[in-house]
Amino acid sequence: MSTKASTNAAARLPVIFDTDPGVDDAMALLFAHRHPAVRLVGITTVFGNADVAVTTRNTLFLAERFGIDAPVARGAALPLVRPPRGAAVEVHGHDGLGNLPEPVTACRQPDARAAHHFIIDTLRARPGEVTLVALGPLTNLALALAEEPAVARLARQVIVMGGAFGTNGHGGNASPVAEANVLSDPHAADAVFTAPWPVTIVGLDVTHEVLMDDAAFARLRDEGGAEGAFLWDCSRHYVRFYGRAAGVRGCFVHDASAVACLLEPALFGQRAGAVRVVCDGIAMGQTIQAEEGKRYSHAEPWADLPSQRVCTSVRAADVLALFVRTVCGGAGGR
Ligand code: RIB
Ligand code: CA
Repeated sequence: MSTKASTNAAARLPVIFDTDPGVDDAMALLFAHRHPAVRLVGITTVFGNADVAVTTRNTLFLAERFGIDAPVARGAALPLVRPPRGAAVEVHGHDGLGNLPEPVTACRQPDARAAHHFIIDTLRARPGEVTLVALGPLTNLALALAEEPAVARLARQVIVMGGAFGTNGHGGNASPVAEANVLSDPHAADAVFTAPWPVTIVGLDVTHEVLMDDAAFARLRDEGGAEGAFLWDCSRHYVRFYGRAAGVRGCFVHDASAVACLLEPALFGQRAGAVRVVCDGIAMGQTIQAEEGKRYSHAEPWADLPSQRVCTSVRAADVLALFVRTVCGGAGGR
């Protein structure tokens, strides 16, 4: 999609969120929920920032608390092949939502279907209409492709927060070369990036350019209603982590940047080419693009694969402004 997302109700974009909340997943979910151009038609959960029982509970909690009526379908508990890496408690807290002051509970129940079956059913029911926004390890999407390869033709597009391609001086965050979502399930990521559907990859190359400071979080708290107050509360642990780990004042906006790319793709510079993922050894999780138009003497691993779009630049201030404006209601938020 090359133009700014429409806010016409009839043209609202149907979206399935695949997510591992996760503080920045919660930021992205509330961003999408508040934006009038997005119609959340489903939320599928996956292990990653926490185990899938916790990410599913957190998703149900967020949906219940903020009136998100999309079905929630529980997904994969483990990666396809590699051993699980374990919960990112240091980053997202013991509850996965920044160690909130109150217990995270939900009365809502998940959909009866497994996440990848929910994805297959929804794409079959709405061929060509639904965008998959994937913000965690890509296991659910890979399982859907394995069970029903036709989903690659049924999705409108796939937007992934993940990967690190070394542009803008940014390497990995989980290893020197690997981004966390991709490292958590490199086989799944390779399957998703090499499938014949249009994938836009919003990696650390651009999300490490989008730094949200406490002044912006304070504006959410003061002007963003219940959503903004919650995002202030759940971001405190997360901001402290980034202060210690990266020496920055604030936090990098990973998952919400993928939503911004859905809404306003013109805010991102993109590069086309087939993408592969290293699935073993010290570089496990590294994402490598063979740029279109460039000639390589050793290109067999990328030969005859679909070209995907990797984001290599971003108008970071505009992404932050869009996020804050939307949560505070200025983008025609609900
Ligand atoms: O590397 C950042 C990604 O890993 C984000 O999606 C964050 O939520 C974690 O899942
Ligand atoms: Ca995530």
